[in-house]
Amino acid sequence: MVFVRTEELLSGMCLARDIHFYDMSLGSAVIMKKGQKLTDVNITQLLGAKLDGAYVDTATSEVRIVSSINQEIRREAISNIHSLADNFIDSSKGVQKSDIEAIGTTAQDLIDSLSSKKDILINIADIKMYDDYTYHHSLSVAIMSIAIGIELGLTNQMLKELGLAGLLHDIGKVAIPIEIINKPGKLTPEEFDIVKMHPVHAANHLRERNLVNENIYAGIVGHHEKLDGSGYPLKISGKEIHPYARILMVADVYDALTSNRPYRTPSPPNEAIEYVMGGMGTHFDERVVHAFLRKVAPYPVGSKVKLSNGETAYVMKNYPDQPLRPMVAVIGNDKTYDLSWDLNCLNIVITELLEEKKLNRTLINM
Ligand SMILES: [Fe+2]
Repeated sequence: MVFVRTEELLSGMCLARDIHFYDMSLGSAVIMKKGQKLTDVNITQLLGAKLDGAYVDTATSEVRIVSSINQEIRREAISNIHSLADNFIDSSKGVQKSDIEAIGTTAQDLIDSLSSKKDILINIADIKMYDDYTYHHSLSVAIMSIAIGIELGLTNQMLKELGLAGLLHDIGKVAIPIEIINKPGKLTPEEFDIVKMHPVHAANHLRERNLVNENIYAGIVGHHEKLDGSGYPLKISGKEIHPYARILMVADVYDALTSNRPYRTPSPPNEAIEYVMGGMGTHFDERVVHAFLRKVAPYPVGSKVKLSNGETAYVMKNYPDQPLRPMVAVIGNDKTYDLSWDLNCLNIVITELLEEKKLNRTLINM
């Protein structure tokens, strides 16, 4: 059983619990019984009654998870980043104005998608559906950065600059020999020195051609700097680091930690989030981390998780300020635990994300 928001219910889904509500248009109470298959009329009634959602049976119903960004925008984004990167490494060409215009359109598409559903959490599983790392990492970082920027109240112009910086931040990596980028073991100091220059290479190339303004430039150059000056390549600190770079670095670190890389297995979302929270104030800007925590859903609704008491459960509802403590429904009985609000559940934590894609679910394009 999972909790599905009313606007995401589909006809044919099977109710896993009774629903009682008052229908204003009928002027009477309505009961929909456990086991009943929802019709379009039922869903319209539930929408009219402004119910948050309903518990549906995962065994008999398809569950839809809202996707943050539709497939067409993703494909277009990856293709645009790819073409720009190809031109970047082609010394006879270099990045063209048309490449940046295409990336700018992608950035605006991402902003429009994310702004239109402000209350939707970014489903991390959903933006990590691909294997090809650098380009998809760039897209993930741009999506997360824009989401953080929206949460921080940035203007559209700022969001567009931030989105561009996110899409372009790692382009410098395509000029680094692939053996270094994908090296399974530890890098030698010389190899690490080469890697450390990737923010500068890309940013300088773009600035020399008048393709980016100073804000985008500073965002790209600074995305590996840390507040305490322990980052690279310039080792700048605090306010010397551009606000865009402070946003990009949180998105970049989170995405890198949770991605499958040749030199390590991905960290589970809770560990990555704890790492980011642990770096607040020393590595990462506190306001940025708080905004990030309000926008990510490391355990998307519908995921199957293992709990510290040995039970397994489905995630039913996420709370923006408590991304690691959603409401869950235990599998095999009727118990639900509200890990954020139920005082009896304070000692229960999620220990493992068991299945995030094995549920029978589809993505809704927005
Ligand atoms: Fe980077």
